[in-house]
Order: sequence, then C-alpha cells, then structure tokens
Amino acid sequence: MPLLIKNGTVVTAADFHRADVLIEGEHVKAIGHDLKAEGAEVIDAKGMFVLPGGIDPHVHLDMPFMGTFSSDNYETGTLAALHGGTTTVIDFILQTQGKSLRHALETWQGRMNGNLYGDLSWHMAVTDFNDDTKKEVKEMIEQEGITSFKTFMAYKGALMIDDRQMVGLMNEVKAHGGIVTVHATNGDMIDFLVQKHRAEGKLSPLYHYLSQPEITEAEATGRFADMASYTGVPAYIVHMTCEGALNHVRDAARRNQRVLAETCIQYLLLDASLYEKADGAKWVMSPPLREKKDQAALWGAIDQGTVQVVATDHCPFMMAQKAMGSADFSKIPNGHPAIEHRMELLFSEGVNKKRITVNKFVEVTATNPAKIFGMFPRKGTIGIGSDADIILLDPNERHTLSAKTHHMNVDYSAYEGMELTGKVKTVILRGQVAVHNGEVRIKKGYGSFVKRNKVSGML
Ligand code: URP
Ligand code: ZN
Ligand code: ZN
Repeated sequence: MPLLIKNGTVVTAADFHRADVLIEGEHVKAIGHDLKAEGAEVIDAKGMFVLPGGIDPHVHLDMPFMGTFSSDNYETGTLAALHGGTTTVIDFILQTQGKSLRHALETWQGRMNGNLYGDLSWHMAVTDFNDDTKKEVKEMIEQEGITSFKTFMAYKGALMIDDRQMVGLMNEVKAHGGIVTVHATNGDMIDFLVQKHRAEGKLSPLYHYLSQPEITEAEATGRFADMASYTGVPAYIVHMTCEGALNHVRDAARRNQRVLAETCIQYLLLDASLYEKADGAKWVMSPPLREKKDQAALWGAIDQGTVQVVATDHCPFMMAQKAMGSADFSKIPNGHPAIEHRMELLFSEGVNKKRITVNKFVEVTATNPAKIFGMFPRKGTIGIGSDADIILLDPNERHTLSAKTHHMNVDYSAYEGMELTGKVKTVILRGQVAVHNGEVRIKKGYGSFVKRNKVSGML
C-alpha cells in the first residue's frame, strides 16, 4: 500500500519546504503540494519535520574487543538505532592479524545474517596489510561493496598498523576507488603513557584520559593527512575530538588537500571532568572526552564545514564489563552507548539551541555520510527515486534520557537524566513504517545489507 506523508515540513541538506511525500514500494515517488494517492495510508505530519533517516557511519555491534564483546548485537543495535531515527549504520569488520579479509568478512556475516532490523553496511578494518591482503582490496570494493578501509594508528599490539602498512594500503585503496579511514592517535606515545601511569600506581579512569593527551591525536592526524596527501587517497578521520587535530586538517586544506573529518556526539556534549567521578569508567573511550575549548572548536568546525559528519562510535559495554578494569584503567573496555540518541541529542542541543541549522543537521547526520561512503542519492536525502528512509521528528516534544527507557542492550545511560527537546516519532525504512510512537512494526530480518559504490568524489 502506498504511504502518503501529509502536512509536514520536508527538510533536506539543501531545502526546507511544506510538502507532502508519496512513497510507493521502497522508494519516494513524489514530493509536492496536496498530493493524493488512491488507497494510500496517510500519515499526518502537521507540526513535524520530515527528515532523511539518519546514517551513523561509526558503530561497533557484537564486536570482539579488549577481551569481551560490545553488548549490542545486530538485532538490538539496529533496533535501538531505528527507535532514535537512524535507519542505516556502518559497522566495522576487524581483520584478525595473520588471517585474510575474506575470513573476517565471513565471520562477521555469520553474526549479522538474519538479525538486522535496520539497514547496515561495513567498513573493513585492515589490521595486517601484506601481499595477500593487498590482493583482497579490489575484491572487497568490486564484489562486496565494501569501499571503505579502516585503520588504527593506536591499540598497539592488537589493531595498530605501522606507517609502512598505511602507505601500502592507501596506494591500493586509491587504485581501486575506495577511501581510507583512521583512528588517528599515536599508539606508541599512548602505550608509553599507559605503562608509565600503571608503574606509578595511577590506575583510576582519570589516567585513561591523561594517557591520551591532545598531542597524541594531533600528531597522528597530521601524519595521516601527510601520508594521504603523498598517496592521493580519499581520507577520512573518525571520532575527532580536539582543536589540535582540527588544526592539522586546516593545514591540509591550506595546501588544497581535502581531509574529511567526523566527530561524535559525545565530544560535542560531554567533557573530561566526568573522569573524576567514581563511575568514570562509563565514559572511558578512545580518544577520551576532552575540554570545553575543544567542544567549542568542534561546533565551529561543523559550522565551517571542516567537520562533515557527526557519528556515535557506539561501542557499548555493560557495567559488569566495564568492571573488568576496576583495578586498572587500561583494562576497561573502551566505548560508550549512543546509537539510539545521536539524532535527538544533536537536534536538541544543536538545532534547538541554535548552534546549527536544521539543514546542517540533515547534512551531518545523513547526507554527508551517504555521499562520503557511496550511498548517495539512494540514501541520505528525500528525493524522487531515493530509498524511502524518512523520519518524522516533533521539534517541541520534551523527554528525558534514561537507561530505564532506552532500547540499547546496556545497563546504563551516558546521558542519564538529560532533558531533550525534540523527539523522533515515526521512522520509515524503505517504505515500511518501522517504528511509530515507540511501537515496532517490522520484524527482525527486515534490515538489509547495503553494498556501497566506489567513492564518487561527491563531497
Ligand atoms: O573507545 C572506543 N572508541 N571504542 C571503540 C573502538 C574505537 O576506537 O573506535
Ligand atoms: Zn577508534
Ligand atoms: Zn570506533
């Protein structure tokens, strides 16, 4: 049955207008005034923003990490995302050092198949670049639609690659039309500081923060940008937190190089003072939360277009998992839960507090991730022929975040008690009402894997 959204304010990255949206099958059929469709189910969107479904390009579901697994799996994670208006996520496959990318892909497919509520794609994290891995890059891009390759300059001894591997990977990814993304912090410096603090008996969560000072991120960001400039590969820095790192992106721009940057909602709203609390482990993530001056720099960079994406780096762990590091900060599994609330947090604190426009909101939560990662215009906008991934958001409804009411599989909220203005009321995924007023209307398995295009240079 066709679906007709009437009387809403349709917003894309470029437009803002009163219009109706007609959906047929999985796609948008028409956008216009006073649309009519025989037999259509009509959704009244009066007073609502009608927005593209969110795309969160940085989540970790059911991921083996630091001796445990992130606590949201493909079922709970994609459903929680839908509740908060995120219709597509890009998750990470981690290559095991010594094994192939194909082996990693098959392992991750086994965990994911049949379990998705929302749509999902993968970045391939290359943790061991060698002659064999090199041959697989083309195959991943052309056969599997996995066009982005994640690298870690940190997590020494586990995920980190060296600069020789980085340059080799960059050359190969560039040759086949992909993009290299990076966790840009200096793993050797961090390792030195972690060991120093441990040797001094400084073991509380505060020392997680003090082991990753701003310079560790700024240095690696500059080094990555230089290697990307040398190889010419499209380059994207994940979870940027601080002014020092931003300045290296600005330096690259001054030599006419484009380095794309993502920040995450927590770096805009939370700061390092949380590490002094008794339950500071809740916010142990890498890179760590930073200072108020960094928040100001990041908001400014979003406004200026230096930061193009606001993601979550959703990597939740139960409190019992966080307690693995109760006697030693270096054993606390890194990551925090946010997949469900990125859209509402950014709308409330960004749009409603007039830090960004609603068009910019759409740009950084949906359109830019779709463009950068080869999904546009299929996803990331409301356009004729696009996937009908659409949310209705009431800009005035007030609500309070809490672990008691969220849908993520984690027993705390990093934003407990925070009052927001602006709530996602209806979520449509490829033409199906997936969630309406909190009620789930699709079944597990409805979500599908998104094969992505080569990087088009659209952004
Ligand atoms: O603390 C974090 N960010 N955990 C997930 C892995 C990563 O570095 O993105
Ligand atoms: Zn990371
Ligand atoms: Zn991450």
